[in-house]
Amino acid sequence: MQTKIVTAQDGLSLAKQYIFGGDVVAFHTETVYGLGADARSDEAVKRIFALKGRPSDNPLIAHIHAEFDLKTLIDGEPPYAEKLRKAFLPGPLTMVYPSNGKVSKYVSCGLKTLAVRVPASPTAQAFLRAVDIPIAAPSANLSGHVSPVTAQHVYRDFCGKIPLILDGGASSGGIESTVLDCTGEIPMILRAGLVTREMIASVAGACEVYHRKAGEAPKSPGMAHRHYAPRCRTACVSDAAEAIALYDREQEGGGSPVVLCESGLAAMFAPRRVLDVGGDGEEMARRLYALLREGEDTATLIVAVEPKARGGVMEGVLNRFSRAFGRNTDEA
Ligand code: TXA
Ligand code: MG
Repeated sequence: MQTKIVTAQDGLSLAKQYIFGGDVVAFHTETVYGLGADARSDEAVKRIFALKGRPSDNPLIAHIHAEFDLKTLIDGEPPYAEKLRKAFLPGPLTMVYPSNGKVSKYVSCGLKTLAVRVPASPTAQAFLRAVDIPIAAPSANLSGHVSPVTAQHVYRDFCGKIPLILDGGASSGGIESTVLDCTGEIPMILRAGLVTREMIASVAGACEVYHRKAGEAPKSPGMAHRHYAPRCRTACVSDAAEAIALYDREQEGGGSPVVLCESGLAAMFAPRRVLDVGGDGEEMARRLYALLREGEDTATLIVAVEPKARGGVMEGVLNRFSRAFGRNTDEA
C-alpha cells in the first residue's frame, strides 16, 4: 500500500472515502497526530489496535468537530463540564463522560465511559466536518514509541500500512491533550497536558489530580503502559555533572551520546552535543517529541537532565519526561 501525505485541502474527499470504507487515516491535530477510524465500527476500531500493536485494555478518544452534538454520545454532563467545554473547546482538552453506548464497544475497551475531544487544528476540524461522525483516534505512533508531531513522524511508523496522512504541519502544542474525568463531583485530571490544573480550577472552582494507589487498576489505563520511548538507550539525571560523566563515558566507549536539557543549562555542556528542549513549559512541550525522535535517529544514548520547574504545563512535560526516560512508577 502506498501512503500518501496530503494537505486537508487536497485530501478531504479521499479521507472520507477511506473512513467510510472502514480504513484508517492519520490526521494533524494541535497536540500530536492522530490515527483515526470510524468510531461506530467494531472492525475499523479493531484495525487501529492492530496497526499500532496497542494493548486491548487501553481505550481510545472519540474526536468530533465543533458543531457535532456531544449529547448524542454521552449520558449526562455535570454543570462544571459544560463550563469547561465552553471555556476550552475546541482545544487540547479531552473530557471523559458516562457513555451512552452509541460508539463501538472497542473504543472504550469495555469501560462505561467515553473520552471525547474537539481538536482546534483547522486540518482536524476540516476532516471531522467532512466525515461528520465520531472518529476514534489514538496518537499515530506504534504502541510505546514517541508520539508524532509531524506527518514525517507518522510516515516513519506507518509507511505502507495506512493509505493517507492529512498533513497540517508541525503540531504547535507538542504533547497529548489533558485527559479530564468528568464523571465525578469534581473534575479529575487523568493525564496532564496543556490545559493545566490551574486553568481548570479557575473555571470549575476545583480540580483534582488522579494518583494511582498501589494495587488499584488505573483510571486511565494508558497511563500504566511504558510510552514515548525513543529507540536508543536513555538515561535521566538531575544534575549537569552526572550528565557530563555519562556522556563522556559513552563517547569513550565509541558511542555517540547527546544531552537533552533546558535552555538555561545548554551552555554548560560545550563542546558536547546538546538537544535544547526550551526555556519554559510551553516551549518544552512543543519541542520534546521532535527532539526525542531526532535523538533516536542520531545518537546511541540520550542523557536527559530533568527540568527543575514545577506546576502549570510543566506537570505534563515532566510526566512525558519520566515516561520517555523510564522513571515511570506506574510502568506496567
Ligand atoms: O492529544 C491527544 O489526546 C491525541 C490526539 C490524537 O487527539 N490522542 C491521544 O490518544 O493521545 P492516546 O490514545 O494516545 O491516549 C489516550 C489516553 C490514554 O491514556 C487512555 O487510557 C485515555 O486517554 N482514555 C481514553 N478513553 C478513556 C476513558 N474512557 N477513561 C479514561 N481514560 C481514557
Ligand atoms: Mg498515545
